[in-house]
Amino acid sequence: MRVFVITGAGISAESGIPTFRGAGGYWRNIDPMTLATPEAFGRDPQLVWQWYNERRSKIRAAQPNAAHEVVANLARQADEFLLVTQNVDDLHARAGLPNDQMVQIHGDIFETRCSGCGYKFDAGRGASPEPPAPCAAQAHDGRLGSIAPTCPECGALMRPGVVWFGEMLDPRKIAMVEDFLAGGAVDLTVVIGTTALFGYIIDWAIRARDSGGQLIEINPDETPLSRHATKVIREAAAIALPKLASGLLGQRRRLPE
Ligand code: OAD
Repeated sequence: MRVFVITGAGISAESGIPTFRGAGGYWRNIDPMTLATPEAFGRDPQLVWQWYNERRSKIRAAQPNAAHEVVANLARQADEFLLVTQNVDDLHARAGLPNDQMVQIHGDIFETRCSGCGYKFDAGRGASPEPPAPCAAQAHDGRLGSIAPTCPECGALMRPGVVWFGEMLDPRKIAMVEDFLAGGAVDLTVVIGTTALFGYIIDWAIRARDSGGQLIEINPDETPLSRHATKVIREAAAIALPKLASGLLGQRRRLPE
């Protein structure tokens, strides 16, 4: 069985990570949509770093929930499996999903990279929640160094390794998804906890369904993808996924050899 899963912030909601657009998404009364942009970083890098540092701390303190566990389990059961997650947290990985079966299409919050030369730094889960320091000593001017981390190679500002609004997706990550979709019919596509507002997310889900299998959406609310789904489950992911998985496993056991 070839299985394709797409996740968004809703799958991590029950681990205590606020979704972007839901209640609790606001930070210090600021809409996250206005922080996750190159313009916001250009205007106030320190503010953007503070937001990301708080999110890093929250993620480090969080644990994968039952839905992350089921996704990792599905990957083990499937003949071929790919997850595309819009989440920049590491909860899928910590639930046991191997890196080569996962595409973090919007990047990784624990990566820090240079906005100038591309130098990368992995802050890791166990590392300090602060951006890489010491800023002032490495800054190409004292002012920059005092407000945000700077690159040890070129002195430009370091930024979180995530994709901001208006930025390009990594072509190597797109290629991983395209290769999977081109690799044969997808028997089961499950889209979990995303508002599905991005064209590429809808496109990948529909193309996977069109190759012949089921498209199941798990989301308490309706989304633009709902009308394309072959089945919609209006429940929280951590409730719905364990039930769905035991149903699928039951079906497989009943299949003739
Ligand atoms: P959103 O915050 O837009 O949407 C979260 C979705 O999860 C909503 O559709 C909720 O109905 C649903 N949801 C909430 N609780 C849930 C639960 N317990 N179980 C299942 N679903 C639940 O998050 P995303 O769709 O992931 O991009 O947002 C997509 C992208 O927009 C993000 O990756 C980020 C954001 O701005 C960038 O930063 C580029």
